[in-house]
Amino acid sequence: MWDGIYLDYAATTPVDQRVLEAMLPYFRETFGNPSSIHRWGQKSEAAVEQARNKIAQLMGCSASEILFTSCGSESDNFALRGVAYHALKSRGARHILIPPVEHHAVLRTAQDLAENHGFDLEYLPIDPFGSVSAEDLESRIRSDTAIVSIMYANNEIGTINPIQELAAICRAKNVPFHTDAVQAASQLSIDVKSLDVDLMSIGAHKFYGPKGVGALYVRSGVDLLSIQTGGSQEAALRAGTHNVPLIVGMAKALEITVMDREVFNQHYQHLRDQIFSFVQRHIPDVHISGHPQMRLPNHASFVFKGIDGNQLLIALDIAGIGCSSGSACKTGNPEPSDVLKAIGIEDEWALGSLRVTVGRQTTQGDIDTFLEVLPDIILKLRRTHG
Ligand SMILES: Cc1ncc(COP(=O)(O)O)c(C=O)c1O
Repeated sequence: MWDGIYLDYAATTPVDQRVLEAMLPYFRETFGNPSSIHRWGQKSEAAVEQARNKIAQLMGCSASEILFTSCGSESDNFALRGVAYHALKSRGARHILIPPVEHHAVLRTAQDLAENHGFDLEYLPIDPFGSVSAEDLESRIRSDTAIVSIMYANNEIGTINPIQELAAICRAKNVPFHTDAVQAASQLSIDVKSLDVDLMSIGAHKFYGPKGVGALYVRSGVDLLSIQTGGSQEAALRAGTHNVPLIVGMAKALEITVMDREVFNQHYQHLRDQIFSFVQRHIPDVHISGHPQMRLPNHASFVFKGIDGNQLLIALDIAGIGCSSGSACKTGNPEPSDVLKAIGIEDEWALGSLRVTVGRQTTQGDIDTFLEVLPDIILKLRRTHG
């Protein structure tokens, strides 16, 4: 299908053919502005509302609780800033709680709120797998806590947090709870009612939908301020003409994902487990990063002692294999990642990180080839490094 073996599905996924077909009419035939009164506008508006209904149904909420955004990062910004600004304005709440291993879309946003907007940011303790416990969360919540944000699954090390338990603590204490489900949505249940979260971010390009579109679930009754002002789209909370084709595509992509989730997950896990067992048996001085079991089924991540992670990615690319060393946004950065530092991995190991994520198109042959070339590449890099 492609020239090379793509093993970086956590960075992004290719658009499903059915998603592409669903989107195409909305670029040219049905092009009206959904805010227009006339028939062209009405057709587009109907498409947007149909997509909203579909996504709401798949997430177990009402359509009015889904807001469309331009990406997962915007959903995270919207949740944190929107709720924090409102909490500050309405009840003087300034305290923000997040674990230090959040994606930069949450981490940098919380840091900006602390540095430039008068909030008080506190990091939740994490275990060596990057996960937060209910006890630690409970003991940190204060009467002035504006928002708690804890990721559902970690993009870099794959660890899944016990979101239902964590959300229950916040519910009991009446504190808004947001979860970044951008990585999780392709593989875990995002039924917001059973998880009982207040806000949840998703982004379509992680589940075989288009780039540049996302959604934020906001439970009815949770107040937030607008962070993008202008027109009255999205209940006057997020101004801007809707990106109709991409919204339609996201709904279709989520439908396919939820419908076939179990089958896809079995495929991923079967391939991913081969990577784990082979690497641990055949390569010395390597650890799995993140939780060995409580992790995304398509996600393998390692730290290799005495390896330069960027050199490893380049060598793999020369061999025709696309992997990552952390999140895509950090590629090219020679510093050990914040996430690996936060879970206590020493620099000598953390600099040699590798993330391998499989997807719908990954074949047994792809994994065989990858595992054939990896030991030699590691050996050669260690020789030149040492
Ligand atoms: C956990 C997590 N949150 C947020 C994002 C940002 O999503 P987007 O690329 O749609 O802005 C990503 C993307 O890598 C992610 O993995």
